[in-house]
Formats: sequence, structure tokens, C-alpha cells
Amino acid sequence: MNYVLDKILIKEADIRRRVDELGAQVSADYCGKQPVAVCILRGAIPFYADLIRRISLPVTVDTITVSSYGSGTTSGALKVITDMRTDVKGKDVLVVDDIIDSGRTSVALINMLKERGAASVKTCALLDKPSRRVVEIKGDYVGFSIPDEFVVGYGLDWDEKFRNLPHIYTLKEDK
Ligand code: IMP
Ligand code: MG
Repeated sequence: MNYVLDKILIKEADIRRRVDELGAQVSADYCGKQPVAVCILRGAIPFYADLIRRISLPVTVDTITVSSYGSGTTSGALKVITDMRTDVKGKDVLVVDDIIDSGRTSVALINMLKERGAASVKTCALLDKPSRRVVEIKGDYVGFSIPDEFVVGYGLDWDEKFRNLPHIYTLKEDK
């Protein structure tokens, strides 16, 4: 099956406004702290790049590539493909993700960072599909809650395509 772009779900200008708000909120909440902002590669790249520039704190940056597996279970096994370089022990970690869908990736990653001794772990996701949740998690910072539709653009892909688009789109079957 091939998919093509259908409609714009969230416009670039609306994303920008919301990212400004999230950055302000994070800056206020972490006032006096030096959080480590972790970009979940690759889907969070544009969101992360925009968000960290709206955080008015001495934030440090790092990246991690993970994939969650064990879809038949809720155990949340996590495969680290490329690890971060920061030792998170005693640090306040902000995990920046593109979307919380089943919640498996976020929950497993939060658990891993806590096991590594992070002082605190919070998540900031651009998008949230609460109706798809398999494991319980509520993002600490969420850009937009969206219905159960597959979306692409602004970092999100279908088959590695569409990540470079400035807006967020829904897809339709290519007939
Ligand atoms: P989760 O572990 O099920 O929450 O999966 C999260 C990952 O699935 C995200 O980081 C995305 O890479 C991918 N994903 C989930 N929903 C979508 C979508 O609508 N479009 C593109 N990628 C998605
Ligand atoms: Mg993907």
C-alpha cells in the first residue's frame, strides 16, 4: 500500500505558537535548574530544535535512538540503538518525543533513565494520541492531542518519508 498526503492537520504557524508556549512552560517549571533535554531520534528532530531555542535556561542537549519492541506485551522492553553520551545520574532529564502513541517507548525510556539514576524524568511530546494508549502514561508537556489518525510531517514519517514537511498532515491511500 502506498500513501500520499491528505490534509493539513496542524499548520506550521500553529506549531510554532504552541512550541513557544511549551518552551515558556518548561523554562518556568525548571527555573534555577540545568535540565538535560534528550531528543528521541529521528522523529523529534524539528520539534526538538525549535523547542530548545525557546527554553531560557542553561539546558544541555543529547540524543538517543531507541525502538520499543515486544508488541504483544506491556513490559515495555526497549532496544537502545544509539545511546546518549550524558551520564544522567543526579540530573533532571526532559525527554523530547514526536508523539506518544501506545506509550510503550516513553514508559520504557523513562524507566531506563530512572534506573540510571536521573534525579527526575519528564516527557515533552509534540503530539499525543490518548485513544491508542496500551500502557499508562500522561505526557508532562504535550503540544497537541490528536485523534487516532496516522500523521506525518515536522519530523514524523511514513516509511521514512515526509519528515521534512513544515506542517503536520494526515495521509490517504494512493489509488
Ligand atoms: P509508542 O511507543 O507506541 O508510543 O510509539 C511511538 C512512536 O511510534 C513514535 O515515536 C513514532 O515514531 C511512531 N508513531 C506513532 N504514531 C505515529 C503517527 O501517527 N505518525 C508517525 N509516526 C508515529
Ligand atoms: Mg517512525
